[in-house]
Amino acid sequence: MSDFLDTLFNLNGKVAVIIGGTGELCGAMAEGLAKAGVTTVLVGRSLEKAQARITKIESAGGSAYFEQADLGSKASISELLARVVEKSGKVDILINGAGANSPTPFLEIPEDEYDRLFEINTKAVFLACQVFGAYFLDRGEGGSVINVGSMTGVLPLSRVFTYSATKAAVHNLSKNLAREWATEKIRVNTIVPGFFPAEQNRKVLTEDRVKQIMGHTPMKRFGEAQELVGATLLLASDTAGSFVTGVELLVDGGYAAMTI
Ligand SMILES: NC(=O)c1ccc[n+]([C@@H]2O[C@H](COP(=O)([O-])OP(=O)(O)OC[C@H]3O[C@@H](n4cnc5c(N)ncnc54)[C@H](OP(=O)(O)O)[C@@H]3O)[C@@H](O)[C@H]2O)c1
Repeated sequence: MSDFLDTLFNLNGKVAVIIGGTGELCGAMAEGLAKAGVTTVLVGRSLEKAQARITKIESAGGSAYFEQADLGSKASISELLARVVEKSGKVDILINGAGANSPTPFLEIPEDEYDRLFEINTKAVFLACQVFGAYFLDRGEGGSVINVGSMTGVLPLSRVFTYSATKAAVHNLSKNLAREWATEKIRVNTIVPGFFPAEQNRKVLTEDRVKQIMGHTPMKRFGEAQELVGATLLLASDTAGSFVTGVELLVDGGYAAMTI
């Protein structure tokens, strides 16, 4: 890389906590950060998926480890932060990307499903922002928070009612916190993936739905997880992204650029 790009995207030595790092999209974001010299902490439930990603990261010369946390519990997230600070000395970047989805028709959505999606998609983001935000403020060296939103937080999508509401809340919270912490050099942004096949949305991606998505995506294809890496590095970098806060950064093959 040229010296110019090295400086602009210098993330060497940073530490990133990637909640949802065991999943497909955030796992790829973690790989990209690790290639840029970031120590990546993959947070999720599945040790097996974490191990597969860690092997990939390490074989490319990067650094990663797995941590589990109960994302619905502030105490558990605080313990996660304490463990990471003990192992890695600090945290610079927080990615909130754990998520779940369901295609239940609106009138049939049970309350426990509504609560479950809000707990993982919204409350977990809220709590992690409280815990890591307090840490960033106390440390006084800034920080980058990247919340994973959704196209449905920008333009409501059919068939994923609860998911849509949970993600719209994440977009709103991100902007609110961007304003709140702007003078403290803590940047809060939302990365908005378009359509990427992954575990949590496989049930939603029926044949009909895929046809609709392709008809509405100017690039006529799904995204590939590694296509989120460029946007992640921009938002993570205090140099390249120094004046970028409160944005919804769409990585969507042009999905939101057209109506009909
Ligand atoms: N794929 C898309 O097209 C798309 C588009 C827009 C936004 N998104 C968002 O991108 C993020 C990543 O999704 P993905 O597509 O990569 O799906 P994925 O592969 O299914 O990953 C989901 C992640 O969330 C974690 N998770 C789910 N429920 C959890 C719970 N109760 N407690 C702890 N962790 C939990 C999973 O952990 P374990 O695997 O360890 O259980 C996994 O790390 C989500 O926020 C999703 O809403 C995806």
